[in-house]
Amino acid sequence: MVDFTRLPRHVAIIMDGNGRWAKRRGLPRTAGHAAGAETFRSVATYCKDIGLDYLTVYAFSTENWKRPLEEVSAIMGLLKKYLLESIEKMERDQIRLHFFGDLSPLPQELRDLCARTDKISTRYDGMQVNVCLNYGGRDEIVRAARAFARDCAQGKCSPEALSEADFSGYLYSAGIPDPDLVIRPSGEVRISNFLLWQSAYAEFYYTDVLWPDFGKDELHRALAAYQSRSRRFGGI
Ligand code: FPP
Repeated sequence: MVDFTRLPRHVAIIMDGNGRWAKRRGLPRTAGHAAGAETFRSVATYCKDIGLDYLTVYAFSTENWKRPLEEVSAIMGLLKKYLLESIEKMERDQIRLHFFGDLSPLPQELRDLCARTDKISTRYDGMQVNVCLNYGGRDEIVRAARAFARDCAQGKCSPEALSEADFSGYLYSAGIPDPDLVIRPSGEVRISNFLLWQSAYAEFYYTDVLWPDFGKDELHRALAAYQSRSRRFGGI
């Protein structure tokens, strides 16, 4: 049973298993991503309805460019469709969107759309969904280290004075609380370069369910598992 008065503030999800879901049905992998995008839409709406503050999803990693062009284009197309729809419905849905990742290699149209969505989101104050796009945890940390080194070179700060909180301010997630719960469907039990810094004290939930089949019941199981854990953050 989920105690809806003790929910995590921030849930992060690795949306995995779209390809296998499609293969099992004799469909092209792109059909799996389309189904995965629908699941994302319903999970995000439900997370907003129950009152989560932040949801972060892994939509496209720095390694996903290795996939066939057709598949990459299909994912970009789904993102575009979703962003266009969410801009239209943001006032009604109160789901704000923000992006983690280096957006520079993305198609210009999609970059413009991300910038527009981000800007419109600042007008609202509902749940925030962070979409990780061309995102990699190590890449994020290296970029943060570069930015910090640049600031030091300009005399704005000193290496000795750097705290963990200061360093967090150089990450894509600056100002956002760390995820309390990281969910990975599809039976894979690894972190795959996702929120490496931010998930230092997160609880993990793994399930064999493939992402397109991930529904309310599975989310409830993940939340109940989270609530059954004792978080000690290194203490006793
Ligand atoms: C991983 O499954 C999934 C992806 C790399 C893409 C995720 C993209 C979406 C759900 C669609 C667009 C997103 C939004 C936010 C609208 P996989 O392809 O690695 O599955 P497999 O391991 O079964 O092959």
